[in-house]
Amino acid sequence: MDYKAYISERLSVEGVSKEEIASSIVVPPDTSMGDFALPCFKFAKVLRKSPVLIAEALAASYPADEVIEKAVAVNGYLNFQVSRKGLAKETLDRIYEEKSSYGSSDMGVGKTVCIDYSSVNIAKPFHIGHLSTTVLGGALYRIFSFLGFKAVGINHLGDYGTQFGKLISAYKHWGDREEVEKGGIHAINDLYVRFTKEATEEMEAEAREYFRLIESGDKEANDLFEWFKSLTMAYVQKIYGRLHITFDSYAGERFYIDKMQPVVDELKAKGLLTESRGAQVVDLEPYGMPPFIVFRSDGASLYATRDLAAAFYRKKTYDFYKCLYVVAYQQNLHFKQLFKVIELMGEPWAKDLVHVAYGMVSLEEGAMSTRKGNVVWLEDVISRCVEKALAIISEKNPELENKQAVAEKVGVGAVVFGALYNSKIKDIVFSYDKALNFDGETSVYVQYTCARANSVLEKARAAGISWEGAVMQPCAQEFELVKALSEFPETVKAAASAYEPSLIARYAVSTAQKFNKFYIDCKIMGADSDMVRAFRLRLTEATLLTLTNALGLLGIGVPEKM
Ligand code: ARG
Repeated sequence: MDYKAYISERLSVEGVSKEEIASSIVVPPDTSMGDFALPCFKFAKVLRKSPVLIAEALAASYPADEVIEKAVAVNGYLNFQVSRKGLAKETLDRIYEEKSSYGSSDMGVGKTVCIDYSSVNIAKPFHIGHLSTTVLGGALYRIFSFLGFKAVGINHLGDYGTQFGKLISAYKHWGDREEVEKGGIHAINDLYVRFTKEATEEMEAEAREYFRLIESGDKEANDLFEWFKSLTMAYVQKIYGRLHITFDSYAGERFYIDKMQPVVDELKAKGLLTESRGAQVVDLEPYGMPPFIVFRSDGASLYATRDLAAAFYRKKTYDFYKCLYVVAYQQNLHFKQLFKVIELMGEPWAKDLVHVAYGMVSLEEGAMSTRKGNVVWLEDVISRCVEKALAIISEKNPELENKQAVAEKVGVGAVVFGALYNSKIKDIVFSYDKALNFDGETSVYVQYTCARANSVLEKARAAGISWEGAVMQPCAQEFELVKALSEFPETVKAAASAYEPSLIARYAVSTAQKFNKFYIDCKIMGADSDMVRAFRLRLTEATLLTLTNALGLLGIGVPEKM
């Protein structure tokens, strides 16, 4: 229910539109005074009356009903109290009607949002730094889809560059087909690292030649490249599978090589391209930025050139409403430059390009993976977290069936939630112990709350109790919970518009906390009457549905039992 619209429909202030009234209504920080409030100060001028008198007059004329129980004037504010029972009924009815789509909307129908995320570099394994882009992008993908947008997930593969010439050269000198096949991406990465340390002048020259051969379509060079690529893709698909991540397009940097020229021609035609020490650049000095390099002095294109072509291609192909780039803040300047160049080209959609920047993730001191020096591979973090989850679960509930499957949901959830719980721009230090704390602000706390709700419902079902349609005047704890449940749809929208899945993660924790307070303070199965019991069971099931949807949007599963 849109309470603000509901209230403003029933209020009239001379010379002020309903929309304006609705947009002036606020949610007071302390809801003991009211659930909504209309500050009357800004109407004083038009009405030539004091805010206190305006609020009093409005309170006297406001028609209270089963939706808004009360309107009270306090010091120039008009405070509204939502009917507790009305909100409970409306919220529960809606959750039961919509179930797994509760919180969704059709606001985005007809609009496309491109989301460039996780963008893998061929031949490089995922380290912990790839966690955020992958899970943030995945969450945004689900959130926008849930709101009716057509989301297009794009994995802008890093599949172009001289490094592939080096890799071929390294493989030719030191590689062994079977070993690489067996070792997969880590074997390839080792070859590359060895090249950077041991390559001779000759090998460097050879690498340049191999890169040229890839570009000119040489079969052997391309076969090798495709092999490295397929090993990389097989490796990342395993991780994506565990994280529930999917893509609609894998058009990477290479895809844009033959799409750069028309865009560059346009830059030229618009007089934006200048020469600087042999390189072709767009001067961005007036905007306080270094030049945007389009072609180096040797004629080679850059990461930036490919991104420029990609933006035009995406606009043409998807006619996006927004195009998001979920990329670490280290690339702030790159995207600022890119968006500026497109704006200078006179493209009105430059304003629809958004760099969704995020902070660094590191592991808590002492929790380093041991596989290789300082690099922490993402698959190791996930596996380790699942192992730890399994140990905890086995200890807490030795009788539990499907322990491995539950541990997978709990362990993967903890890694994902760890990256999504804080505002995305913050640097994060991941700790296994904190992430797996059953009493912390964690996914496992939310999952455990769901399992607890499930077990109550199961007991009730086994006892043949039905709670269909039950509703009554809620007590304080019940009302806190109802209110939280009613706020889910707004929370999803807020998360989308701020590109901030953390809002949903925080919502899940705070709603679980409210449920647990209710669970401890209010007897469910032991309630005083059938009606109270039925109402509480219905609230319990509604909480389970809502929390399941919330975690689902983040890519986290909910085990039935824990
Ligand atoms: N592969 C790049 C990297 O690892 C990220 C690509 C992001 N997407 C883009 N369109 N630039 O830094």
